Amino acid sequence: TAAQKGGFDHFMLKEIYEQPQAIKNTLNGRVAKGEKIVLDKIADGDLKDISRVFIVACGTAYHAGLVGKTAIERLSGVPVDVDIASEFRYRNPILDKNTLVMVISQSGETADTLAALRLAKQHGCKTFAITNVVGSSVSREADFVFYTYAGPEIAVASTKAYITQLIALYIFALYMAQDRNYTDKETLENIKSELLLLPEKVKKALETDALTKEIAEKICVETDIFYLGRGLDYAVAMEGSLKLKEISYIHSEPYAGGELKHGPIALIEKGTVVIALNTNAELRGKMDSNIKEVVTRGARIVEILPDNFENAGEGCDELITVPATEAILAPVTAVVPLQLLSYHVAIAKGCNVDKPRNLAKSVTVE
Ligand code: AGP
Repeated sequence: TAAQKGGFDHFMLKEIYEQPQAIKNTLNGRVAKGEKIVLDKIADGDLKDISRVFIVACGTAYHAGLVGKTAIERLSGVPVDVDIASEFRYRNPILDKNTLVMVISQSGETADTLAALRLAKQHGCKTFAITNVVGSSVSREADFVFYTYAGPEIAVASTKAYITQLIALYIFALYMAQDRNYTDKETLENIKSELLLLPEKVKKALETDALTKEIAEKICVETDIFYLGRGLDYAVAMEGSLKLKEISYIHSEPYAGGELKHGPIALIEKGTVVIALNTNAELRGKMDSNIKEVVTRGARIVEILPDNFENAGEGCDELITVPATEAILAPVTAVVPLQLLSYHVAIAKGCNVDKPRNLAKSVTVE
């Protein structure tokens, strides 16, 4: 009903706007400046012997996992693999008691993710679940549970659950880092401070709403849209592309910038729309050249950038800026305009945004 939508036209838009609060709720009681990260029901030393992590999930939760891999590896030095749950369960992964298998599931009921969790337990691994639903199957079966406090997510397209999964993964990465002496304390403290600023920064990123609507009205006639990014931007590109295809039915693919020359650039022709994510100062030069490569072939670029890059946006048709943060946290702000863009494209096409065709909110059969 309209009342439940709290004045918004759709649950998806309401949920996008709830993200600052959802982040705040997920950080609350877990992250504080100058204090150690405390995780629910995990005692000091419980994860001390973990030498390897597998993150296993489906869809959007898998995309969050890809960001988690970089965060955990960079901060704690523990190697991480990320698997699609339906692949993991049938590929005989090498698992032992020092392996932590982390499943990520908004609903906590996804059949393949639950099966992956059970497989990990059979192998004697420690298991850790990130879920949004208290009492869900994965929360009952995993050794350790981290609840994201996104609140109920009604729209089939996941938004606030994804953003809180990212927060959960950053908190976990900091937790794994704090006793391992892999990253210096100052860097970790700095990331903590930046994490605490994310609710405000995401609120600011929501101000891209009007601009994304304008862009959506121009690109909604397209039949193929490409997303491009390097590093964490590539993981965000995957999420942006999934969001667009599931609610607007426009064919869309994400590519890693460096892969263009290995095939996908053959698809670029005059007028092809490319959404380019360019949030990382270290990768910026490389990404700028990838953008030039597609511009030369006639692509129209929508570029997503942090607001502290100078002389940005050369050759771009549309520029969307989001608040700058630590490079590792950039997915949290960068995904916001992508969510809004997908929403507005779907609206412009007259699609059923909250209940897209062929999709269920929770996939409880294989
Ligand atoms: C995202 O927008 C999806 N509709 C879908 O990919 C979803 O993230 C996936 O099915 C996993 O669901 P879960 O988090 O409840 O396990």
